[in-house]
Amino acid sequence: MSVRTIGVVMNGVTGRMGYRQHLVRSVLAINEQGGVTLSDGSRVKLRPVLVGRNAAKLAELAERHGIPDHTTELDAALADPDNLVYFDAQVTSARVKAVLKAIEAGKHIYAEKPTAESVEEAVALAEAATARGVKNGVVQDKLFLPGLLKLKRLIDGGFFGRILSVRGEFGYWVFEGDWQEAQRPSWNYRAEDGGGIVLDMFPHWHYVMENLFGKVRSVYAQAVTHVPRRVDEKGHPYQATADDAAYGVFELEGGVIAQINSSWTVRVNRDELVEFQVDGTEGSAVAGLRNCRVQHRAATPKPVWNPDLPVTARFRDGWQEVPDNAEFDNGFKIQWELFIRHVLEDAPFPYDFAAGARGVQLAELGLRSSAEGRRIEVPQL
Ligand SMILES: NC(=O)c1ccc[n+]([C@@H]2O[C@H](COP(=O)([O-])OP(=O)(O)OC[C@H]3O[C@@H](n4cnc5c(N)ncnc54)[C@H](O)[C@@H]3O)[C@@H](O)[C@H]2O)c1
Repeated sequence: MSVRTIGVVMNGVTGRMGYRQHLVRSVLAINEQGGVTLSDGSRVKLRPVLVGRNAAKLAELAERHGIPDHTTELDAALADPDNLVYFDAQVTSARVKAVLKAIEAGKHIYAEKPTAESVEEAVALAEAATARGVKNGVVQDKLFLPGLLKLKRLIDGGFFGRILSVRGEFGYWVFEGDWQEAQRPSWNYRAEDGGGIVLDMFPHWHYVMENLFGKVRSVYAQAVTHVPRRVDEKGHPYQATADDAAYGVFELEGGVIAQINSSWTVRVNRDELVEFQVDGTEGSAVAGLRNCRVQHRAATPKPVWNPDLPVTARFRDGWQEVPDNAEFDNGFKIQWELFIRHVLEDAPFPYDFAAGARGVQLAELGLRSSAEGRRIEVPQL
């Protein structure tokens, strides 16, 4: 069977996500496995063209992985007709300008979330891509996590009965950067640079809720900056102008209530960095990144409130692990393969810029809800 190669312009590959998840764990891993397999059995390899602002960093990366093409000139990379796809994992604030350029050049676009900093721009991107007739996609990696795939399996199998509520707990302590280096880039903590946990995480929660539990009808959120002063990559103190924690309540189609805490200022006392508890009339589940445990209605204990007695029941022992029953590949890589099939043979890909815009909309409305101290209905885009 034939193997063809297509060029993929990758902007922002020196960053955390661009390098580790998209270049190494997706594009290079796809080539190592022999390419993306299309429906006729033929294969497609990806020729990454690394684009960034720092020529030396790009050259070092290219050398490390034996990649021939790298440039600081986005226009030049876009001018090559063999480069069919443009991928963007730059800082959020740099995304719209570059993506619009790539749309104009007729490239199919795949981009990290959030697709833009405002819903207006996110919708404009979706419209520009449609008008130019280019395929478009946004990263929705959490849907492909083993824990959430197991949760989806439970939903599809009717395990929960009627789903009542979802409780999400996401977060970990991000060091302030003074006595220990911060493990996230400092732009995340500056609103003027596209930072903030609402803009970062609500787009994720949006597609998780929309794909698993139902469309989001309203949002109430309280976004706060718990740690107002941090120290950047160069050791300079700065004012944190963006929210570092958000406490959100979402009403979903069908009456499900989702309550999701997102925080970079919380110490982990959970099994995983994100966990969702789903309670239904027939059973409950707690899903994390990898694992998922369930408790069926018939195995539910009957606790009685009595603070005078010590707790003897070991509540967590009454839960059962959901088996893998499948091999789980890297979620970012799976979505890359889906997108390449979408570009080359029009395979379905529901994670488009319109979906990306709905995620940005939820972030924007979440911030407005917090500023105005009220619950806000989500207009359907
Ligand atoms: N899907 C996910 O789970 C996930 C997780 C984290 C971040 N993200 C998204 O990925 C994108 C990149 O995040 P990251 O954590 O990799 O960031 P990062 O700071 O590590 O990388 C940012 C990249 O953008 C480049 N860049 C371009 N213009 C820039 C500018 N003006 N200032 C600074 N850098 C500039 C940098 O050189 C670097 O390559 C963001 O949009 C973020 O929201 C997604």
